[in-house]
Amino acid sequence: MSGNVMQVKEKKDRYKVCYMAGDDSGFDMMEGALLVLEALNLPIDWVRADLGWCMWEKSNKKFGAGDPRCNTVPPETIESIRATDATLMAAITSKAGVKGFKSAILQLRQLFDLYINLRPAKSLPGIGTPLKSDPRIDIALFRENTEDLYAAVEFYPLPEEMFELHKGMERFKGEDVAVSWRVFSRKGCERIIRAAFEYARTTGRKTVHCCNKANVIRETDGMMKRLFMEIAGEYERYGIKGIEENADATAMWLIKNPQDYSVIVASNVFGDILSDEASQLTGGLGFAPSGNIGEGAALFEPSSGSVPKYAHQYKVNPSAMILTAKMMLEYLGLDEAAAKIEKALGEVLVESRPGTLTYDVLRDFRGDPDWEKNAAATLDMASAVAEKIDPGFTGARLDAAKKKVRSMCAWGESDLVGFN
Ligand code: IPM
Ligand code: MG
Repeated sequence: MSGNVMQVKEKKDRYKVCYMAGDDSGFDMMEGALLVLEALNLPIDWVRADLGWCMWEKSNKKFGAGDPRCNTVPPETIESIRATDATLMAAITSKAGVKGFKSAILQLRQLFDLYINLRPAKSLPGIGTPLKSDPRIDIALFRENTEDLYAAVEFYPLPEEMFELHKGMERFKGEDVAVSWRVFSRKGCERIIRAAFEYARTTGRKTVHCCNKANVIRETDGMMKRLFMEIAGEYERYGIKGIEENADATAMWLIKNPQDYSVIVASNVFGDILSDEASQLTGGLGFAPSGNIGEGAALFEPSSGSVPKYAHQYKVNPSAMILTAKMMLEYLGLDEAAAKIEKALGEVLVESRPGTLTYDVLRDFRGDPDWEKNAAATLDMASAVAEKIDPGFTGARLDAAKKKVRSMCAWGESDLVGFN
């Protein structure tokens, strides 16, 4: 790793940040997050880009279905990510079984080699957990983001010679067989493990858990476990303990003793699953931010989906997107602003004033039987957070900011940037 990959390479007085409102309710959540950022007067110049299902539709219209240029990620977007210091992205929509359709986020993780997927799960005040007691949870999960089953080396039908490749394949001869290769590289394992330990060292955390199945998957997870133990040895002198365990046991212990976990490192698939589990302990996907980080680019996205059924209705909870923006500010070294966001959101949640919490919070955390009727709109919750940051962010100032972010996230076909 060159320098601290969790921080922007070059500190600047002003940053250029690419923002992408994604699809459906992604536009609503992005408006909410941008509104909160408006209250902070940040040294950021915004560059709009688009991606996702909306771009798939636009490119199909332009080039015709089946044209190889059809994509969820337009070339303009790739260029904007490259030309900016960081990228803030809202949720996108995927549709299964669409021929030629490739997930935008999976492409970007590969294209920019965003090998770290950092997924924090941290207790928020006013948001209980489904667990019996209410332990304080503060987990930083490092998911490897480019290899494993996500390397997309798959076979179906299986070429004849593949049946001869390994004697374990003998019993499948004559069967209808699909195979997905699980690929781990030494480089891939090493860099995610080092990122996790470096994070522990620089943030004063004392344990790093490596979740694997080396007891069964001997080669891939065996490599991960071996390298983990080696690298853990280097960090003993900092008082950091490396603990390796079976990923299935982790899934169980996360429910029983979540407070025992601080930093977790896992391969792509296990990290995908364990991060959703960890998020549920601290409010679920409506509160789950994440960062896709590599040497040359960093892209921050909420772990939540784009909730197509509520598209453009301003119903969804903006919290995951707001916390995602906070993570991005930390990456840019704007720590003070980031801390203000976290504090303000916590206050809004604890105060629980009428008209400040979206339907999911009332339904899942306040036990309000009238949650539908009492639900606040996305921008009302966001405004409440913004006003906590700056009590003067009301009236004409708030109205002007709302107008600005609405135009930043306009979603008409001619507003979308890309394939122009
Ligand atoms: C995630 C999601 C993605 C993944 C999907 C949408 C492709 O589940 O970011 O965790 O599998 O990585
Ligand atoms: Mg996932």
